[in-house]
Amino acid sequence: MQRLKQLCFSLLIIPTLAFAIDMENGEEINEVCAGCHGEYGQGGKEGEYPRLAGMPSAFIAKQLHLFRDRLRPNLAMVEYVDDRQMPDADIQDIAHYLEQIVLKTKLPPADETSPDFNAYQRLLESKRLMQIPLAPGDVKSGKKRYKKECASCHGREGLGDMKKAVPMLAGQYTNYLWRQVKKYRENIRIHDEDAPDDELLLEFSDQELTDIFAYLSTVDD
Ligand code: HEC
Ligand code: HEC
Repeated sequence: MQRLKQLCFSLLIIPTLAFAIDMENGEEINEVCAGCHGEYGQGGKEGEYPRLAGMPSAFIAKQLHLFRDRLRPNLAMVEYVDDRQMPDADIQDIAHYLEQIVLKTKLPPADETSPDFNAYQRLLESKRLMQIPLAPGDVKSGKKRYKKECASCHGREGLGDMKKAVPMLAGQYTNYLWRQVKKYRENIRIHDEDAPDDELLLEFSDQELTDIFAYLSTVDD
């Protein structure tokens, strides 16, 4: 009986331990990623490097596995995700570290004349702001189409879906989104694993997507 209890105990405890997230390790790994994706995962070079901050950890982890297994081509990252460099535990740690980074879109109002005003603190906060530049297009029509065609997966306002591992589209660089559209259309990436043969984006014209992205670029205003 005692042994049985012990066995049950270890069965319970081992899976938990195996998935314990080490945030400090995540922070350390991020120093490597920061070279391209920015210190706060804010991305860079206007979308050459995508924003990662606040993305669902399950989405980030999935992409890292796809890069590592060479199922999603990414030359820039090959040397960082090789098996020896990036064991599964590291993938979990960095994915959770990036998920919890919150990037505000504007600074809260502050009274610069108040004795409590801390200019240095303010400067640090302003470095963590992220605003996507407005993209051209018909925002109203894009919003309508977004709500009808994309919101069920990407969330009401394009902020993604943590549980279903769907990435945010609002708050991501428009250039980056376009590059991915091209990859989905050419079957270099798979948009919906449950229906891999039906590329969702093939049904939309460039003009329709332009409008959708115009709308998404306004969400953070
Ligand atoms: C040498 C530059 C470079 C470094 C370093 C780098 N990346 Fe990337 N990463 C890229 C590029 C370029 C892309 C976009 C590829 C594309 O267009 O499909 C990308 C894409 C990604 C994506 C896909 C995001 C999305 O929304 O589709 C994830 C996740 C990611 N990187 C995570 C990481 C992590 C975690 C690290 C650190 C371990 C890292 N990257 C280090 C260049 C880099
Ligand atoms: C059935 C659910 C579903 C619908 C509907 C959907 N998407 Fe997606 N989308 C996803 C998933 C899941 C991913 C991540 C897939 C992967 O691993 O590449 C994704 C990824 C993307 C990406 C790449 C983002 C990144 O950071 O790499 C773009 C761009 C995108 N979707 C655009 C759209 C647009 C625009 C619409 C509406 C016209 C739309 N999607 C409708 C599920 C959906």
